[in-house]
Order: sequence, then structure tokens, then C-alpha cells
Amino acid sequence: MCGIVGYVGPREAQPILMEGLRRLEYRGYDSAGLTVLGSDADLHSLKRAGKLTELADALDVAPLRGRCGIGHTRWATHGPPTEMNAHPHLSADGSIALVHNGIIENAGALRKKLQAEGVEFQSETDTEVVVHLIDRLWPEGGSLEDAVVAALEQVIGAYGIVVVSSRDPDKIVAARQGSPLLLGVGSDGEFLVGSDAAAVVAHTREVVYLDDGDYAVLTPEGYRTYHLRQGPVNRQVHEVTWDLAAIEKGGFEHFMLKEIFEQPRTLRDVTRGRLLEEEGSARLGGITIDDRELLSVNRIVITACGTSWHSALIGEYMLEELARIPTKVEYASEFRYKNPVVDEHTLVIVVSQSGETADTLAALREAKRRGATVMGIVNVVGSSIARETDFGVYLHAGPEIGVASTKAFTSQVAALALFTLYLARRRNLSILEGRKLVKALQALPGQVEEILEQDQAIRTLAERYRDAPNFLYLGRGYQFPVALEGALKLKEVSYIHAEGYPAAEMKHGPIALIDENMPVVFLAPHDGVYHKVVSNIEEVKARDGQVIAVVNDGSEELDGRVDHFLQVPETHPALLPILTSIPLQLLAYHIAVLRGCDVDQPRNLAKSVTVE
Ligand code: AGP
Repeated sequence: MCGIVGYVGPREAQPILMEGLRRLEYRGYDSAGLTVLGSDADLHSLKRAGKLTELADALDVAPLRGRCGIGHTRWATHGPPTEMNAHPHLSADGSIALVHNGIIENAGALRKKLQAEGVEFQSETDTEVVVHLIDRLWPEGGSLEDAVVAALEQVIGAYGIVVVSSRDPDKIVAARQGSPLLLGVGSDGEFLVGSDAAAVVAHTREVVYLDDGDYAVLTPEGYRTYHLRQGPVNRQVHEVTWDLAAIEKGGFEHFMLKEIFEQPRTLRDVTRGRLLEEEGSARLGGITIDDRELLSVNRIVITACGTSWHSALIGEYMLEELARIPTKVEYASEFRYKNPVVDEHTLVIVVSQSGETADTLAALREAKRRGATVMGIVNVVGSSIARETDFGVYLHAGPEIGVASTKAFTSQVAALALFTLYLARRRNLSILEGRKLVKALQALPGQVEEILEQDQAIRTLAERYRDAPNFLYLGRGYQFPVALEGALKLKEVSYIHAEGYPAAEMKHGPIALIDENMPVVFLAPHDGVYHKVVSNIEEVKARDGQVIAVVNDGSEELDGRVDHFLQVPETHPALLPILTSIPLQLLAYHIAVLRGCDVDQPRNLAKSVTVE
């Protein structure tokens, strides 16, 4: 949520900042701006409402020249997405510029206090108070970092801020509390800062993650890291393992389509080196607690948001069915407000693609506070959630840029299956059952390739339903969370209203919606509840609903009873969600494209939700 980039070094800053913003645009895209320290020793800024191209066009006409600068792409929290509310925000005399990601919770009180002292505000944002505080608290003869530290003492809330000033030139100060920030350590005296590695990876693979309470000072001579209370601190330099191609479209029209088509590879990568064929089990190097401790757990709580919450629901079915351990799934946003029953015998699993979702991070901290052991299932290496959990499993899916999560979802389900196998084999699952799951996991990439071959047929289906105002998605058992996920994908990218429901619950209300105009997507693979779902399909057909059924072999009796089939191969029932979700990703994608929607950057959304 909001992308931040900063550069200081020997090269012109503007192209580097704009490239960084282009790669961060998925984090927020309602307005953007840059500030650069010019050779006249003044700060020069340009901001535009709308997509980054608006700013790029303005910069073509009036470029900003200089070797130190900051940039921002915004996802509005306080104040509409206007040019005035776009970042960077400036002090009254224009000598300090600041970009911010997060929410300043005491902005109202600080604004009143500053206004009473005569400060005039230019924007409606919470951010602007911070730049005025820095200005007013700048100590006599002090540095930019002294002023930033003094201002942060008064600030309550979440922030990743990056500041430059003409009063202390060729320097960037970055500070983090609750919103991600990392430094990029370049060669030849150039240093970058970004809200994620995508901002800097074109220039360096060496990054330093800031922790909460940290601030950093970057100049062409080097960088220093401090903690607000502990003083100077050393933070390790990490190497980014993926390359630029991972954040390019690679010939696809959209990132979402590229990421859907990457799934054979991502499913191979999530299981690589982790399957033990003979033992019918999994090897998970990231699980660093010993078996005794793991087996003392008597309950699992999985917490997450959005699509990750859907994969968590599938994990609940797997863990209860195969590892026979009571498991509950909680919305991370609800978890800490409900006095959850969590103690030292509870394993809390947090699932997150970005590893930065504010609610999920807060739930993690609450679980730890209550004494639980916390495990992460995370994609982004080095993210806050990955660093704060006790141990975990990385997805290795590579950067996911499309705002609608696709490949991360299927990798999360695969990672949950691996963990289920790991735990179940230590508890109760027989070696034979374990081997079946291992085999099924190995077969997934090839099976996904088969599903992807239906892309054109799914596009044709999308043409038929592109103008439907509503959709219903129904499934039972393992397929219920797939119904939720299918509906979420469609809503997010096409703006069609869609609901996911447990198939049998339909007759307790949603059946009232069914008529000849209602497309109903049934998840009807041949599993333990197949015959029940067939009855639910009959109920919809009896009311003239249009039925699209996702099926596999053994569903022949549905011939002639549904309007359209989407076929997936056979697999272990616990892994079927991975296969059945993929045609639904393609259906949502094609409907959205046919409706002219911006699938990679849907309205009002942001990839990583770093505010509560
Ligand atoms: C997915 O399509 C969504 N854009 C969203 O629901 C997302 O899954 C949610 O915000 C959680 O994000 P995370 O996995 O990065 O924590």
C-alpha cells in the first residue's frame, strides 16, 4: 500500500526514481510524485493525480534534474486522490520533502496543535503533519536525522517515511514503524531506499531490511542504521534471489495472466526438495522446532486476510482430516479484537503472500503475546511476517505483481498440504496415505499445464457471461473455499457482484436469487460430496439458473444437466482446490479483460494492505 523510493548517488535521480515507481505501482496507483534536490540547492517537486503515466508525461515536459531525490505512488487513506494530497509533502518554506506509507493515528491532534502555532496545511492527508513537525523541531545546528528523530517522538501510528532536505543536502533519512522499508546498497557510492525490493533490484541485489523503530541515513559516502531507542545498530545485508525478469510481463498482456500461467513452475518450486517419496512425508527445513514441541500442540489457529484466508480455510480441512488436529481459521482483522483462545499449546499459522499485511502482522504479534508458537507461510522473503514468526515455510513463488492473487494462492495451498503431511505423518497418517499425497503433489505441475490448455475455451465462455450482473459460486467441503476464492477473483478484477457459498446452504437463502439470468459456478469434482452437489445442481436447474460446472473424470452423469463444463484432472481430494481454482482464475481474468477492466490494477485495491 503506497510505494516509496529514494536515491542518492552519482547518477541523475529522476529516471531511477521513475523506474522504481513503475515497479512499485502495484502497491498503489491513485496519484504519484517526485522531489529532487537540484543543482541550485533547492528541492523541486512534481505531483500528479491518477496513474504514473500522468506524472511521466508531466516530467517529459519539465524534467527534474539532480542526484538525490524521493518518489511515491499513493493508495489514498486520508483525503481523496488529488494532486494536492499526492506525496511528497513539503514544509512551508519548501526546504523539506517527505513521502509516507502508513497512517499517523494522532494526525488530527498534531494538525490542530500546528495550526494553532500558525502552520498552514496544503493537503488533507495525515502525512503532512510529519513534515511540519520536522521543520519546527529541527534543532539549532542539527542535522536532518536529528529533526526526523525529534518529530517521530511525537508521532503515533504506522509509518515508513523517507525525507530529503535542502538544509542538509545529498542525504536521505528513512524511518520505519509498522510499514516496510529496505535499503538498496549499490556500488560506486549509490544508495537506494524502497518499500520493497522491486524498487531497487534493477540497481542492486544487496538489501538491508529496516526493523520497526529503525531509521537510516544515506549519503553518497555510505549508509548508517540506527534504532530510535537503541542508537546505532547493524542490520544484515541480504541478497535478493530473483531477477528483473520476475517482475516483467514476459510477453503476456497482463501480470495476472503471466502469473496464472506460471503455476506449473511455482507448484514445482514450492515442493522442490521437500517431498520424501519413500517415507511418504515432507522435509521442511524451515520448521525449526523439534518434534516433541510440535507434538505438544493440541490446537491450530490459522489467520490471514483475503485470498490467503481462503487458502487457510483449505488448510483447516486438510489438517483436521489428515492430521486429526482441531483447527480454526480466523480473519486476522478480527483475531486480536475477540480475546482469542490461544496459549502455549496452540500453534498459530499466519498465511500471507506479501508478509506485510497489517492485520495479519498484528494478529501474529497478538498470538505471540499470548504465548503461542507462530509459524509463517509467506511468499516474500525477508518480509515483516517472515521475520517475526518463530519459523515457517516460504512459497518460493517469486514476486506476485498482479493485485489479484493467483499463483500465491495455489502455492499457499500446496505449502499447507506439505505442512499437513509433515505433521500428519508424525501423528497418525499411515505411510501409504502419505505416499499417495506425495505422488499427487508431484503430479500437480503437469496437471496444471493440462488445465491451462483450456484457456481459449474459457475465454469463449467468458464472452457468453461478460455482461452478467451477478454470479454465484457454490462448493462443499474442500471446494467451499474455492467457491469463495472464485467469487473474490471475479469481484476484484471485473467488478461483477459475486458471492461464494457452501452449496447446501444455498437453499437457506441465496436460492431466492436464482433465475434464468443467474450464472452459477458449481465446484463439482468427483469427491466425497459429489452426489450431494449434484442434487444442489438439480435445484438450480429446476429454477432455470445457468450452470457452469468444474468437474473431473467420473462426473459423466452431469452430461446434459449443466450448461458448461470446465474439466480438471483427478488428484487427491485435499489437492483438488489447486486444480479447480485455476479455471476460475482464467474465467475471472477473461471476463475482466472483455469488460475493459484494468486487471492488474483494479480500482480501489492495492497489492499489499499495510494499514489496518
Ligand atoms: C487477493 O486477490 C487480494 N488482492 C487480497 O485479498 C489479498 O489476498 C489480501 O490482502 C492478503 O494479502 P497477503 O496475502 O499479502 O497477506
